Parts: sequence; structure tokens; C-alpha cells
Amino acid sequence: MKKKVLVTEPIPQKVIEYLEKEVELERWDKSEKMPREQLLEKIPSFHGLLTSKDTIDKEFLQTANRLEVVSNISVGYDNFDVEAIKKANVLATHTPYVLDETVADLIFGLLLATARRIPELHQYVREGKWNRSVDHTLFGYNVHHKKLGIIGMGRIGEKVARRAKSGFEMDVSYHNRNRNKKVEEELGVYYEEMEELLQTSDFILLMTPLTKQTFHLIDEEAFRKMKRTCFFINAARGAVVDEDALINALRNKEILGAGLDVFEQEPVSPANPLLKMENVVTLPHIGSATAETREQMKLFAAKNMIQGLRGTKPDALIKELQ
Ligand code: DGY
Repeated sequence: MKKKVLVTEPIPQKVIEYLEKEVELERWDKSEKMPREQLLEKIPSFHGLLTSKDTIDKEFLQTANRLEVVSNISVGYDNFDVEAIKKANVLATHTPYVLDETVADLIFGLLLATARRIPELHQYVREGKWNRSVDHTLFGYNVHHKKLGIIGMGRIGEKVARRAKSGFEMDVSYHNRNRNKKVEEELGVYYEEMEELLQTSDFILLMTPLTKQTFHLIDEEAFRKMKRTCFFINAARGAVVDEDALINALRNKEILGAGLDVFEQEPVSPANPLLKMENVVTLPHIGSATAETREQMKLFAAKNMIQGLRGTKPDALIKELQ
């Protein structure tokens, strides 16, 4: 008898066909998240869960008594309680590598959009306000030859550094738990202590995964250390930043602006003050959201699922289970 897999994200036909060769599928095709109660009700009869948003915690795992594999369609897996997953003896996988370039493209776009005020000026033209020559009230800030400090030098950080160095001739430093000598040698980027990076960067890019250790890593004190001319870019996870501290730093002009692809609460509340600030560019968590990359991620997640259910080691088992 085929094993059963529950898919709580819309997936392309190609991925459905790939999975159906080996497993029995049940799919939730809506863009809204499957309600938690419904997920808990269904999961006891499934061997696999293919997801990207569901919280996999003790409560879920106690109910999921047949579960062998949970495969996340994203590189981040802060929706997983890793310790509980380990104890439950379930394989957990994610989708690194295939999205690195796509996310790095988006980050660069966000950085440029923030510094050069692209969304605001797009609106200005659309609203028919362009009836005189451009003066200082519409000026932005240079990106090229400025200093970019990257907090979290993983694969995506490296791709961003590559763009910054060779495309924009920026001075690029990074802070990370471990030194990345390969990136230093190959790209000419350099390591800095957090304090120095915060104090000297023109652009600060946050790229660390959300863990218990990185929760609110960027707080009031961190913003106070930044240059008043600094742009802060977050494309990691909202909760790595204390959002109230960010709002205060922007209000008090402790930094010049922010580019945000992620928020503490997603979807972001329309009442969030960040949405009203002219010096803030906001996106709906679209780092990896291109048709090609999302398809690759879903295929990768499906392969991880099948490998796990066959009893072989999935290509992208999360590192804590290696
Ligand atoms: C991920 O895969 O974790 C990204 O945040 C998706 O954009």
C-alpha cells in the first residue's frame, strides 16, 4: 500500500505527478493556510507532510503518530520545533541552494529601491506630480562605493556580497558566528565584530535565521549604534528584529530608512506604523517568489519527501538532524 502525504501548499502539476508515482496525495490548494484544527484532525493518518507555513511543534507531533517526514518548502525552518522533531524521530527537510540567487536579486532590488526611493517616486510620477525639474526633495542616496555590513554570512549573504563587490564596488564586511575564510579570500569581504559593523555601515543587511539565540538580535541598542545615515534591510525573518525598536529608530531619525521583506507578524497588519513611513519600503516576504524558483523549491521538497519515506537520507535534511 502507498504511503500517504498531505500537501498544505498549492504545488504544480509536475510535482503532483512526481509524488503520485510513489505516494497517495491529499492536497490543500488554497493560498490561505489550512486551519490548525483541520491539520491536527487530518494528520494522524499521514506518513508525510509537505508544507511551508505550518507550525511543527509538540502538540502537532503528538497527534501525528504515523508521521515519518516533514518537508518544508523553504530554506528557513523557524516553524519547526527542532528538539521536539528529534525526539519524535521524524525526518525534517528544507530547500537550500535553489533559491540563493533569487533571494540575493530581491535583496539588491530592495536595497536600491530603499536608497533611491523607487516605490515613492514611481507613485509620484503615476499621480501626475512630475510637473517640474527634479530637485533635492526627490534625491536619494548612492549605493555604489558605500559600505555594506552583512549580519549572517551564509549562502545568500555570499551571493549578495558578490553582487555588491563586483557590480557596485561596495566595501563589504560581515559578522557571523563563524568566520567564512573562503568568502573573505574569494570576494575580498572582511569580518567585523558586531559593534564595529553596526557603527560603520551605510547599509546593514540582516540575513541570520530566526532561532532562540537570534530573536530580537537587532534591538534598541543596536539601532542606536548605527549611523544616522544608515539604511537597514531585513530579508531574513521579522522577529530577528525588535520591530518596536525599529519603528522608534525610524521615528527618532536614528537611521535614514529601511527595506523590509519580512515582519514580526505576517501577513503584516494594515495598522503597522511601518506601512505609513515614506522612508520604508515594504514587500510581502517575496525573497524566493519567482515562478521558476518556487517550482524548483517544490520539486526539491518533494524529492526530500520521497527520499525520506523510502528510508534513505534526504538531500536536504536540516542540519540539526544530520
Ligand atoms: C525561505 O525559503 O526561507 C525564504 O524566506 C522564502 O522567501
